[in-house]
Amino acid sequence: MSFWRPIQAARAPAVPTMRPDAVRFHFPQAFLWGAATSAHQVEGGNTNNDWSAWEEGGHVLVSAGAACDHFHRFREDFDLAQGLLHNAHRFSLEWSRIEPEEGRFSDEGLQHYRDVIEALHARAIEPIATIHHYTIPRWLAAKGGWECGDIERYFIRYVERVVAAYGDRVRWWITLNEPVVQVFKGWLIGQWPPGRVGDYPRALQVIRRMLRAHVLAYHTIHERRGDAMVSVAKHCLAFTPNRPSNPFDRISTAFRDFLFNNLFLEALHTGRLALPGQFFERLPFGRTLDFIGMNYYTRDFVRNTGFNLPGFVGLSGTLENERRIGKRNDLGWEVYPEGLGHFLRSFRRYKLPLLITENGIPTSDEDDRWGFIYMHLWQVMRAMAAGIPVVGYLYWSLLDNYEWVDGFHAKFGLIGVRFASQERIVRPSGRWLAQVIENRSL
Ligand code: FCB
Repeated sequence: MSFWRPIQAARAPAVPTMRPDAVRFHFPQAFLWGAATSAHQVEGGNTNNDWSAWEEGGHVLVSAGAACDHFHRFREDFDLAQGLLHNAHRFSLEWSRIEPEEGRFSDEGLQHYRDVIEALHARAIEPIATIHHYTIPRWLAAKGGWECGDIERYFIRYVERVVAAYGDRVRWWITLNEPVVQVFKGWLIGQWPPGRVGDYPRALQVIRRMLRAHVLAYHTIHERRGDAMVSVAKHCLAFTPNRPSNPFDRISTAFRDFLFNNLFLEALHTGRLALPGQFFERLPFGRTLDFIGMNYYTRDFVRNTGFNLPGFVGLSGTLENERRIGKRNDLGWEVYPEGLGHFLRSFRRYKLPLLITENGIPTSDEDDRWGFIYMHLWQVMRAMAAGIPVVGYLYWSLLDNYEWVDGFHAKFGLIGVRFASQERIVRPSGRWLAQVIENRSL
């Protein structure tokens, strides 16, 4: 007998019987598909906010400058999004354009976002508006920004204006983008304005103000529009103990998880505030989330560094975990899709719709980008098949853009941008995602 046997001669395996759960998964017809951006990162010409002052202060290598010139090119960019079959788009309102000086609201600034919103509707793209995506006007920064006792009043006055201007045309609202990240970068590690380092007392005070600002905004929006869907875009960062068997690393990991991932949502969900020294203080008006906006990118390892508050918050970063990390993106963040699945399962307890408001990868390799999207969508699909109410997926970002301190080399876009000429190049992964949208299946 010959050692070689033709493949046909091998016995075919029995065909498994089709079970209902083996039926191909389809995303619902109403699923929101699209991408996200933020004003300072794409518009260009934003020189009247605290981040531009930060750029002038030399805290970053490059400034946003003209960015993607999306301020002038938003219609063409939305044409491309429509061509990629997006039916939703998340963008942010730039406060410094709308209220360039204290108490002076600019018709031109207000009109601009009206045009943006109408341009989206004209392309059957659902607008999802972020009210505050990190930047504040310079006049407010000069008063101390989030450290200023009056910020809630200023914020609400601004919210009233934008809701009056767009409430008829915008149903989906994000009040704050990643408040915990903003406080971490601005008050604990000093990388972002106002550049404070290890200032825990102020950090907690700012978090508390942001919580209250959200609550006030929530009610302001709902007074205008009963069917509004309001949330924050919550940054979700998966954590793993740096030394898995070390009890202190494990405690720090749990503590960080609570501080970074849970505290803010729990406070808004329960209407109670649990900050050190402020346990169980009631927020003014009960529950204020209609859905949960989730931004998910990566995981961090946590190492305890001592027996005090900063020590238990611990050091993050990959530290000696090089060997445990597989793929990284161009900014060095681990690609860890399981983390998204973890958060989707864990947020099930809120019994609210979950919207992925950001998920993306900076890379110059389209196989990596598509692998990233596919693996994260796989997690979404599994969660939905298990009954978790995910209502949409917004990729970060529509365009390559200005990535804060990392400048322009991080290529996040479904659409590449040649910044010198402002030319747009639709990337293969943008088209592959369009196929998934079309088939409603991976
Ligand atoms: C998120 C921010 C967004 C962008 C991405 C990469 O944390 O919300 O502005 O910078 O990260």
